[in-house]
Amino acid sequence: MDEPALVIEPLGSHHDRAAFSCAEPALDSYLQRQASQDIRRRVARVFVALGDAPEKIAGYYSLSAASFEKDELPPALAKRLPHYPVPAAILGRLAVDRTCQGQGLGETLLLDAIRRVVRASVTLAVYAIVVDAKSDRAVGFYERYGFRAFASERRRLFLPLETFERLGL
Ligand SMILES: CC(C)(COP(=O)(O)OP(=O)(O)OC[C@H]1O[C@@H](n2cnc3c(N)ncnc32)[C@H](O)[C@@H]1OP(=O)(O)O)[C@@H](O)C(=O)NCCC(=O)NCCS
Repeated sequence: MDEPALVIEPLGSHHDRAAFSCAEPALDSYLQRQASQDIRRRVARVFVALGDAPEKIAGYYSLSAASFEKDELPPALAKRLPHYPVPAAILGRLAVDRTCQGQGLGETLLLDAIRRVVRASVTLAVYAIVVDAKSDRAVGFYERYGFRAFASERRRLFLPLETFERLGL
């Protein structure tokens, strides 16, 4: 029999935020205490992957609009861009519940977030997705998918949407 399709949907009040635990306290507490307020204030959108029950959160990510200065990029990329701030999407948080780690969900969520940004960028231009990795281990996770570090911050990484589309992921 086929596996049921994974559901990824906007965070709502019926989701059990309290039970979520990814081993990174700041990421647990963001979901539990801050995420709903950020959504209400329109400073972030938060999406959750459902676990084996409709209220169980197996993983989540957040997205917001942002911009950065082109001098942060490697010179070969910077020279192709204008002098005003470069439009971006920030993947503010990405985390998978401990009970679901190591099963491909982190990758699925990352690709879902990037594809959502690619679709939005048809209407509102986005040059790159930016992430702030919470640890050196997390840097390794993002580098697997083509993210590269900004010049000034080792744990702040970017992925031009053009690169993603070229990779055909
Ligand atoms: C990092 C995290 C999101 C990865 O999610 P996951 O579901 O465990 O990862 P996946 O199973 O999708 O792994 C996808 C691939 O990345 C690799 N990977 C996982 N974590 C990695 C890491 N920290 N560094 C390098 N590679 C990593 C896996 O080995 C796998 O590769 P494979 O298919 O060749 O085996 C998850 O472990 C997590 O939430 N950790 C705690 C919070 C955190 O650090 N979040 C990072 C955002 S700052």
